[in-house]
Amino acid sequence: MRTQVVIIGGGPSGLLLAQLLHRQGIATVVLERRTREYVLGRIRAGVLERGLVALMEQAGVGDRMHREGLEHDGALISYGDQMFRIDLKAHTGNGVMVYGQTELTRDLYEAREAAGGEMVFNVADVEIKDADSDRPHVTYRVGTETHRLDCDFIAGCDGFHGVSRQSIPPDRKREYEKTYPFGWLGILSETPPVSDELIYATSTRGFALCSMRNARLSRYYIQCPDSDRVEDWSDAAFWEELKCRIPPAQAEALITGPSIEKSIAPLRSFVCEPMQWGRLFLCGDAAHIVPPTGAKGLNTAASDVQYLYAGLRAFYEDGKMGGLAAYSAKALSRIWKAERFSWWFSTLMHRHPEMSEFDHKMQIADLEFLRSNAAAQKAMAENYVGLPY
Ligand code: APR
Ligand code: PHB
Repeated sequence: MRTQVVIIGGGPSGLLLAQLLHRQGIATVVLERRTREYVLGRIRAGVLERGLVALMEQAGVGDRMHREGLEHDGALISYGDQMFRIDLKAHTGNGVMVYGQTELTRDLYEAREAAGGEMVFNVADVEIKDADSDRPHVTYRVGTETHRLDCDFIAGCDGFHGVSRQSIPPDRKREYEKTYPFGWLGILSETPPVSDELIYATSTRGFALCSMRNARLSRYYIQCPDSDRVEDWSDAAFWEELKCRIPPAQAEALITGPSIEKSIAPLRSFVCEPMQWGRLFLCGDAAHIVPPTGAKGLNTAASDVQYLYAGLRAFYEDGKMGGLAAYSAKALSRIWKAERFSWWFSTLMHRHPEMSEFDHKMQIADLEFLRSNAAAQKAMAENYVGLPY
């Protein structure tokens, strides 16, 4: 078989790229190792920058997002019993869209299916061949049958544990990593959110986040030791700890309920350079990971997709390779700024085990400065709503 672009990975990156290319008549095949249902069962962050909102509209899948998504013009930051608001709209002219990644991915799947998009599920043993030539191909197995797909280009949208990044020879790439000595214990509950806007909270007991999916579905997180297991935490223990980390008024107003999902996510910063090798291009989590504090995972995947889509479109329309040749440098420039913001916000808001009392005083001073200084708030707001593509 032959196609123009093979996309490895049927998560948000792969599906969004496939849908954008389809609308330009560029043929793709998406290879996904799981089932559609498994992919849609993943619970992930749901804060969309304006760039991703625009890409979803461009892909023709923005209707439900605009119907059901929540436009947020601000976000709240609390420390101890203090709380202040970052007025995103006033500082930047933009807000963010709160819309679950699961729903975004569902919309993309439905669009691909409606368009007759080629997607192969339950693939195994994906191998990338001759990526450093102008005739690359991919082999993969479904059941007992092995297949070959010849193509012009390969998009590695297969996440942190995928095969694409591993297909770049070790001596042709460099990886940067920082791990954090804590994780996020998150729950989903069919309860009304405690606040109309997200609350990023820090206290001497650690970080907490009050988020939501809609007016009837709340998402909460608390920082926990990286040695914790989800079975160590009952729902009651979670709610009690959350109440200790948010301001008294919100703790009092919090409506608790049984968790319908509960999990622990590790925190990691990671970047692979470069993000391309020959005709293989890495997109999204395949190339970089951020701690979820700044909600930049999906949003940096989106800007990668935009850059790669533009480069591929220029190739197929005009035969120009310039956009593709510049892809890695352009994507990395924006990714490193998102890595910095995510690292900075994580450091500001989490209680690090090895923190001294002086370090904690520095955190409070940072928070007091952010609270009182318009320039500091503007800088934070610009990063949070999304730096330009
Ligand atoms: N072959 C085929 N598919 C694979 C392979 C493989 N060898 N390895 C992984 N995959 C699939 C995974 O099953 C997953 O569905 O690739 C997909 C990668 O999706 P994500 O991990 O969601 O990565 P991405 O699409 O870049 O989206 C980034 O999603 O995970 C969140 O926090 C992340 O918000 C960010 C966004
Ligand atoms: C979420 O709703 O899951 C969420 C929101 C904002 C973040 C991280 C996660 O920064």
